[in-house]
Amino acid sequence: LPADLYGPSRKNSAGTELGHEESLDGLLKEIAAAGQFPDAAPIIDGKPQPGTAREVRSPIDGKPIGKVIEADAATAERAMAAAVKGFRAWNETPARIRAAALRKAADIMEARRGLLIALLQGEAGKTIDDAISEVREAVDFCRYYAAQAEEHFATPTALPGPTGEENRLVLRGRGAFVCIAPWNFPLAIFAGQVVAALVAGNSVVAKPAPQTPLIAAVAIRMLHEAGVPVSALHLVPGGTEAGSALVAHKDVAGVAFTGSTATARGINRTLAAKDGPIVPLIAETGGLNAMIVDATALPEQVSDDVVMSAFRSAGQRCSALRLLVVQDDVADKMIEMIEGATKELKLGDPRKLDIHIGPVIDAAARQRLDAHLAAMRQQGRVAWAGQVPELGGTYVAPHIVRLDRVGDLTAEHFGPILHVVRWKAGELDKVIAEIDATGYGLTLGVHSRIETTVERVVERLSAGNIYVNRNIIGAVVGVQPFGGHGLSGTGPKAGGPHYLVRFATEQTVTINT
Ligand code: NAD
Ligand code: ALA
Repeated sequence: LPADLYGPSRKNSAGTELGHEESLDGLLKEIAAAGQFPDAAPIIDGKPQPGTAREVRSPIDGKPIGKVIEADAATAERAMAAAVKGFRAWNETPARIRAAALRKAADIMEARRGLLIALLQGEAGKTIDDAISEVREAVDFCRYYAAQAEEHFATPTALPGPTGEENRLVLRGRGAFVCIAPWNFPLAIFAGQVVAALVAGNSVVAKPAPQTPLIAAVAIRMLHEAGVPVSALHLVPGGTEAGSALVAHKDVAGVAFTGSTATARGINRTLAAKDGPIVPLIAETGGLNAMIVDATALPEQVSDDVVMSAFRSAGQRCSALRLLVVQDDVADKMIEMIEGATKELKLGDPRKLDIHIGPVIDAAARQRLDAHLAAMRQQGRVAWAGQVPELGGTYVAPHIVRLDRVGDLTAEHFGPILHVVRWKAGELDKVIAEIDATGYGLTLGVHSRIETTVERVVERLSAGNIYVNRNIIGAVVGVQPFGGHGLSGTGPKAGGPHYLVRFATEQTVTINT
């Protein structure tokens, strides 16, 4: 590969070869050395805030793994006031110095990957593969946005003009940005939003999901250690109370939100109802992600890609496959192969190396998935069900559910449940229209060896990330910018070249020389 594949000054982080005994041993020692996780609390101007702590329990076995003091509305407001105060100095710090802090943060994350991986496993129930990928993604976001900021924010862009006129475009931070993250990528998405907002010149109040405050606190400390001033970055662990207070604050300059479509709508309403400046919302939300498979597709490849897309990470990726839409002529064979491959998946404690599927995030998530599965069972739609281990954690076995038509799937079921719909030859346009009608547009898969079929699907469906003849998860920073449209979000592409501009003000300066 050419050395500058990812741009002149950047390379994505290297992986760990788990098949290589020495690398694996080294990594396992680093994870074991993580020890007791540090507790989390609101951090304002670098200082942990007092309050009543609650236990954080692992989804793996329900055991306590640390403590968090959550922010109430008053603490959230103090964090906002501190961010407003910290904005100007950080925005006036040269972009190359802001970028240097992100690069340092990336180095720190790599150097302490053992702690980060241990937290991703303990707090979010990630397998070792997923945890390694997530640390890499967080590191890549830091280095990618650092490079982007140096390119676009460090010096104004000169624009053309007539003789005697000089034009330039200047990018700057907007003010105090609120970043609200989900639990399913509690490091990569959490840190990705925060560093994008920071490097663009904003001060930040970061609110992680209530399920994953410990890793968020560690990441914030790493960013401070890397040189982000404590006045520019504040942490507000908590749930709806803290999140609502941040969004409703009179001085919020922008909100970056990743999570469910319903929550994004609520935030949008709050922002729209406020007096004062119109506040931009960057929303990255859910998906009803489909994969269209026709009779020319390669069955083994489809089977591998479906199993990986639907069940890896226990189906808890926004990109995960929810709906396999397979041509009738090959459906029986494909489904049989998929069932066979799914049977081979091992469900259990994700800290063990041979486990493919860990727990879902908490008891509430398991309950929601169980309720959906009970309804499907009652309708006689469950085609295949795996077994749940007796481990005390929140496990949901992989399931395959038959539906009659695409429109039967009306909600995102955020777990290891694959729905399957069949279509008959000649019905491709109908299937495309039905997928379009869901209103979501995050990821989409197509498996076909017919070029015109692929082109038709790609042209007519507006999913943000379309994958042809491969799996539909695991977008790589700077390679597959990630994000969707419609009910799936406002269209930003995390890890893409236009992401940082969303966090900035653009100013055109025209000088009569
Ligand atoms: P969620 O919407 O329940 O919560 C997300 C965040 O919003 C949490 O931090 C939560 O505390 C906060 N929040 C909840 N109510 C709030 C309010 N009224 N005001 C302000 N903040 C509030 O989502 P989740 O369960 O944490 O995450 C799973 C969802 O995220 C899925 O729908 C998934 O598809 C989506 N997701 C999307 C992407 C993407 O890039 N498009 C990536 C990951 C996850
Ligand atoms: N960016 C993550 C993926 O592509 C959500 O799977």
